[in-house]
Amino acid sequence: MPAPDELVTLYSDKVAKAGDLAALDAVRVEALGKQGEITQLLKTLGKMDPDTRKAEGPKIQGARMAVADAIEARKAALENEALEARLASEKLDLSLPVDETPLGSVHPVSQVMDELSEIFADMGFAVAEGPEIEDDWHNFEALNIPEAHPARAMQDTFYLATGEEGAPPVLRTHTSPVQIRTMMREQPPIRIIAPGRVYRSDSDATHTPMFHQVEGLVIDRNIHMGHLKWTLETFLKAFFERDDIVLRLRPSYFPFTEPSAEVDVGWSQVKGRRVVGGSEGWMEVLGSGMVHPKVIANCGLDPDVWQGFAFGCGIDRLAMLKYGMDDLRAFFDGDLRWLKHYGFGMLDTPTLSAGVGA
Ligand code: DAH
Repeated sequence: MPAPDELVTLYSDKVAKAGDLAALDAVRVEALGKQGEITQLLKTLGKMDPDTRKAEGPKIQGARMAVADAIEARKAALENEALEARLASEKLDLSLPVDETPLGSVHPVSQVMDELSEIFADMGFAVAEGPEIEDDWHNFEALNIPEAHPARAMQDTFYLATGEEGAPPVLRTHTSPVQIRTMMREQPPIRIIAPGRVYRSDSDATHTPMFHQVEGLVIDRNIHMGHLKWTLETFLKAFFERDDIVLRLRPSYFPFTEPSAEVDVGWSQVKGRRVVGGSEGWMEVLGSGMVHPKVIANCGLDPDVWQGFAFGCGIDRLAMLKYGMDDLRAFFDGDLRWLKHYGFGMLDTPTLSAGVGA
């Protein structure tokens, strides 16, 4: 059996050479584990006669403590080294330039929807929504467009195949069904706009199978067409950021309004381009009218008490007129160059924080 001080020398040397925590633990087991050399030496104390034990005891205990201390010290040193290495390898250089991440932009349609919402919010309108997959009743029937009505042919409808009996669901052909849903859900007075996607089977430079409309609806006790005209005028002035907006209401026909009017806005020529404002000519911007009493009754309201106006307007067209694009199809091509050119920064949205003056 080796002498205690020999073991101290032996294990101090092994401890010093242990290159990592795992190696150090192996040394600890070898010296101080259950079968460890120093542990075995400690066990011999029990078999010694009292005098030898008195002499050898302190030496063996001293050796155990010396080795345990050496292991502890080495452990602390190794842990410290590991930490230092980690700190060195994970060092952040805050002066490095940031990677350039691709930045998206706000689509003009989203931008215009935000502008619309802000302008109408200033006039006390809430934003309402409805489903894009709509049933025949909300999209047609309740809006006074019965089955055989020629107005159904005006809107080239996408029908969904369900394999079930009865009128199939449709991709809504306009935002007008949101009028119905709102009147069925809420008691008047009602003031809402409903911007969203609509669908028609149509495609050329000015038509895409999916496009955007905004519906407006006001229902109260004493609403008349003067309110309609003021609302549209106030909205168009704020939207086009011009005071010289002139409107012309032309008699028209929609099944869900009586009387109905198509609204034209005056334009003028600026650097060879037609812009909204002035009155060199007229262009049609939206359909409108007083909500038909049958539509009000279809929603469970008494048309002798409640009346109001409605309008429907193409959002993509508004965007084209305000921001100067001329091909509608490019709106939905997803071409990054187009989006970069016509898109808006997220902090630009919406631009009209000046709002609608009283
Ligand atoms: N829904 C009509 C369309 O898509 C637009 C419209 C016209 C909506 C007159 C209205 C309205 O609310 O009063 O062509």
